[in-house]
Amino acid sequence: MPDFHPVSIGSVQVPGNLFLAPMAGYTDPAFRKLCLDNGACLTYTEMVSAEGLARGGQPTLDLLRRAPGENELAVQIFGDGPSVIRRCLDNLLACKPTIIDINCGCPVPKVIKTGCGSALMQHPRLIYEMVKAIKDSCQVPVTVKFRLGFDHNSINYMEFAEQAQKAGVDGMCLHARTRSDFYAGKADWSAIKALKEQSSVPVFGSGDVMEAIDAVRMLEETGCDAVMIARGAIGNPFIFLQARSLLEGKGELVIGLDRRKSVALAQLRCMIADKGELKACREFRKCVAGYIKGIEKAASVRRQAMEARCYDDYVSAFARLE
Ligand SMILES: Cc1cc2nc3c(=O)[nH]c(=O)nc-3n(C[C@H](O)[C@H](O)[C@H](O)COP(=O)(O)O)c2cc1C
Repeated sequence: MPDFHPVSIGSVQVPGNLFLAPMAGYTDPAFRKLCLDNGACLTYTEMVSAEGLARGGQPTLDLLRRAPGENELAVQIFGDGPSVIRRCLDNLLACKPTIIDINCGCPVPKVIKTGCGSALMQHPRLIYEMVKAIKDSCQVPVTVKFRLGFDHNSINYMEFAEQAQKAGVDGMCLHARTRSDFYAGKADWSAIKALKEQSSVPVFGSGDVMEAIDAVRMLEETGCDAVMIARGAIGNPFIFLQARSLLEGKGELVIGLDRRKSVALAQLRCMIADKGELKACREFRKCVAGYIKGIEKAASVRRQAMEARCYDDYVSAFARLE
């Protein structure tokens, strides 16, 4: 039976083995802080352009903002090779990342076209050079997040991992799908197990952890050092506390409707403080479904949320749920 335990990533000791995965458009300061408050042990920014960082553009720098009281933060960057990594380091280090993670998994055509994200899977040597560029310049632990391969005819995660380790990487996350799978199909956890068995650094598993029990199963079936939770945490930050409860043998933790509603509104308030009421209320629409999943009248509340333009609109939508 797996347990809840700290994880060492280079010089950093993370207090537990349940991480919030990077998710573009979701893992903003408000959501990360909420997940930390609900048991996440490490959180990541969404993918941040190394080129944008190198240029010091304000929209890029804004992605590195922290929530009040948010101390530890893994910053994920994407780039096409070692040169841009070297150029972005001054601005990156100025924000004091706890860990620097390199994205080698983004499947979006716009990103692939520029040689970034999972395009890197086709050039394992580049990941060696990118990791080394950071390791040669600073003491911050470096991790990489990658996929099984570019497609099912080019599964090369082992070779990729070897290159990253040769360069001194401090931890690796495998999203057990290929680029051509995007987010569909079943993640192949047996690959996470194989990677863990072959690796000398901590391995984190990603893919299909939708409920707390899945986190326990992934730890058990793969032997990985930590689980990264992505879609399963959207509108459900409680998944971390629930998984911890199972890992500590305390059984299932049920979260009541009142707590769900109050945490949802707390996330929205934090988003409003960070980005203003209208923008926050628009962005929050995509999180609502998770908070009220399986609850009676959820469909009508979801419809009301699609029109919500201010905080009070959400308060009255949630008030319909008893
Ligand atoms: C909306 C969305 C945005 C994502 N953005 C990122 C990202 O910025 N960086 C990254 O490495 N992975 C990103 N991912 C991938 C997740 O971190 C994770 O590896 C993937 O969703 C598999 O986990 P799941 O099946 O449990 O959702 C994203 C996934 C989703 C659904």
